Amino acid sequence: MKEPVDQYDLKRLLRAAQEGLAHAYAPYSGFPVGAAVLTVAGEVFAGCNVENAAYPLGLCAEAAALGSMVSTVGHRRLRAALVLIARPARAWPCGGCRQRLQEFMEAEAMVYAAGFDLGPIGVPFAQLLPRAFGGHDLARPTP
Ligand code: THU
Repeated sequence: MKEPVDQYDLKRLLRAAQEGLAHAYAPYSGFPVGAAVLTVAGEVFAGCNVENAAYPLGLCAEAAALGSMVSTVGHRRLRAALVLIARPARAWPCGGCRQRLQEFMEAEAMVYAAGFDLGPIGVPFAQLLPRAFGGHDLARPTP
């Protein structure tokens, strides 16, 4: 995962997240979120938050984008993800979504945050979830 995300791919991610955001269903929080993920093979998948009157059942935008990716092309390693909110601010993935991203991201994969009129800024995944729990932990032998 050494390849950096170039401007072209960053734009594709942002466009997909904008499409996701346009579909966001957030009548309860009033906080629409769009997300997009970029696989190492170059595919882009979008998602949006999908809330529910039974609040805890609501789905985060990142979870929707990952669900789309897995159900369309199967498991894939991610090169980047982007979260877009409709306000003049940026928001980073919630704790649960950091763990969801961990499943498909290596330490150097990039996570971007963008907002209304605010371009994306990115950090390596390891900065968002250092010392993450993952499949490697489950694979350790029992004593
Ligand atoms: N939300 C996301 O979609 N992604 C995050 O990483 C943070 C929170 C959604 C969940 C809920 O629909 C709304 O934002 C307010 O929490």
